[in-house]
Amino acid sequence: MNFLSLIESKREGKILAPEQIQEFIREFTAGNIPDYQMAAMLMAIYFRGLNTAETTALTLAMRDSGDVLKFPRDPRPLVDKHSTGGIGDKVSLPLAPLLACLGFRVPMISGRGLGITGGTLDKLDSIPGFQTLLPAAQITKLVQRVGCVICGQTDTMVPADKKIYALRDASGTVPSIPLIVASILSKKLAENLEALMLDVKFGSAAFMQTKADARKLAKAMVALGNQCGTNTRAMLTDMNTPLGRAAGNWLEVKESVECLEAGRADLPVSQRASSDLRELVIDSTAHLLVQTHKTKSLAAARKQAEECLNSGQPRKKWDEMLVAQGADLKAFNKKLAQDSTAKVVAELKSEKAGFISKCDARIIGEVIRDLGGGRLTKDSKINYDVGVDQIAKPGERLEKSAALCRVHAADSVQAKTAIARLKTAFEISSKRPDKVPLVLEIISR
Ligand code: URA
Repeated sequence: MNFLSLIESKREGKILAPEQIQEFIREFTAGNIPDYQMAAMLMAIYFRGLNTAETTALTLAMRDSGDVLKFPRDPRPLVDKHSTGGIGDKVSLPLAPLLACLGFRVPMISGRGLGITGGTLDKLDSIPGFQTLLPAAQITKLVQRVGCVICGQTDTMVPADKKIYALRDASGTVPSIPLIVASILSKKLAENLEALMLDVKFGSAAFMQTKADARKLAKAMVALGNQCGTNTRAMLTDMNTPLGRAAGNWLEVKESVECLEAGRADLPVSQRASSDLRELVIDSTAHLLVQTHKTKSLAAARKQAEECLNSGQPRKKWDEMLVAQGADLKAFNKKLAQDSTAKVVAELKSEKAGFISKCDARIIGEVIRDLGGGRLTKDSKINYDVGVDQIAKPGERLEKSAALCRVHAADSVQAKTAIARLKTAFEISSKRPDKVPLVLEIISR
């Protein structure tokens, strides 16, 4: 094929035919197109964009670049949720076992942290023995048996995205809506889902900083997901503030377990999951119940999800999923009982009394990354134990010297630096701030 002429066409703003897109994805995956030419094409797409037909062709060609998961016929619908990423976003962890308890099959193929945003696989790697890399046959087997699996993409699933993503990362072409749509949906469509819920975040710590950009991305993904036969909805959610009260890999696993233990009346309030986390878990579940026609109305579906979460069954399903994926449950429970697994814990105290009016997710995310909880380069080794917890959230009133948050660090020097930077993440005012909605809107077909 003459790939150079296709690059030139896109550079001039011309429309590529589906067959041309299919061919260059096939050739690039096979190693027949050099990275420098593909990077030039990605930059042309970044500036010129792709229309709907081109984006569809690119998404499907990427999906078909490798294996697609195949499941036996079963009355339990195949569903999943995908978040564009944020700070403290641990929704997938309690959500998968909750959905399995409500009669769904959940082949949740997840990713690692990107930039300052956390990754589900990195969080799960903090669980002793837990395996996130499973062959396709094992994924199918466990989904059929347990009802849910959370794992990484296999080597043979959507290889085109793996190669293209690495090039986008190195060529400044990540923030392109058609490229993001194709990257996310090619992977989700390879799971062979009946329904998909997308959590598209906007705000200081999100990929999309503005509501308008997040809405544009959500609309493009919803239209394409539905066109490809997967009932797809998206929620636009606020990521100016971290989700929940904990951020950092192991601390988020702990908060996820607290969310699954929501029905335990014996737990002190400080150990119950944050209400915004619970809200997103319940809302995602409720939409999937309606999308798959299991439940008629959103109100009834929310009630059903609440009752199931409070029953304690999803907490048991979580343990079943952990054991099925190789975790050492005894070591996990021992770790869970510790207040902190990091070497040093330090508290940031409020310098005055008042209402929290700001808690900046971006600053908190950057601090956690620099504590070692995220990656500065692709090969960085993560410290799973560091992070920030007991985060005071906007609208809450605090007395002078009360804790704004706690830092879990590898040593006292790093803890001190983190505390100084975290001071700038919080603002306190004498007036209670207006409540900011967590879910701004729902986009469906
Ligand atoms: N997540 C993905 O998988 N791909 C993107 O392009 C952006 C976020």
